Amino acid sequence: MADTRILVFAGSIRTGAYSGKLAAAAAKELAVAGADVTLVSLGDYPLPIYNADMEKHDGFPENAKKFARLIEAHQGVFIATPEYNHSLPPLLKNTIDWTSRPKLAAEIKVRGKVFAIGSSSDGLIGGARALIDLRKVLNTAYGAITIAEQISISKSGEAYDEHGNFVAEAPQKLMQTISRRLIEVAARLVP
Ligand SMILES: Cc1cc2nc3c(=O)[nH]c(=O)nc-3n(C[C@H](O)[C@H](O)[C@H](O)COP(=O)(O)O)c2cc1C
Repeated sequence: MADTRILVFAGSIRTGAYSGKLAAAAAKELAVAGADVTLVSLGDYPLPIYNADMEKHDGFPENAKKFARLIEAHQGVFIATPEYNHSLPPLLKNTIDWTSRPKLAAEIKVRGKVFAIGSSSDGLIGGARALIDLRKVLNTAYGAITIAEQISISKSGEAYDEHGNFVAEAPQKLMQTISRRLIEVAARLVP
């Protein structure tokens, strides 16, 4: 049987982003768990802020189509997000907005995939409040199946060693559980 295809990306393109570190740790663990992993940066898919006039007059930006095709090509997705004002950041929301418009989704199959989500912050709550909104947005935008298990990395500045591995055992174990579950559900539900 072919390995389960999982797409991984972060909701920040900041140099040294904590969510980038979480995405990299997730990609590593998913690969160890047997997935065929694609790790990408939203920096490679820049998009204008969504404007319905733009969609109407110019159609979809090439990067919206490219990113939607990436989602289409995978069975599951892991998103690592920062928390902006207790929610998801505009970069991530805008990418989801563009790639979930009904006209695009009719052409490129972004719906019905399995998602796992994680957050990171230097604060004590680890960006967990952003996950409440991200889960809701994914369910609405992509008709996504989101697995229940999720991860929030608090004090992110101290959470990783120089190789990008978790310093503590608990997040490492949780990431292993999430990876196995994401692969299992994606393999079962998405062709
Ligand atoms: C506009 C804005 C809002 C923020 N709001 C929150 C917040 O609600 N909770 C939190 O823990 N951190 C918040 N932060 C701090 C971010 O968690 C921090 O900048 C983090 O490093 C950004 O994620 P990144 O490292 O993945 O780029 C905010 C930062 C910005 C720029």
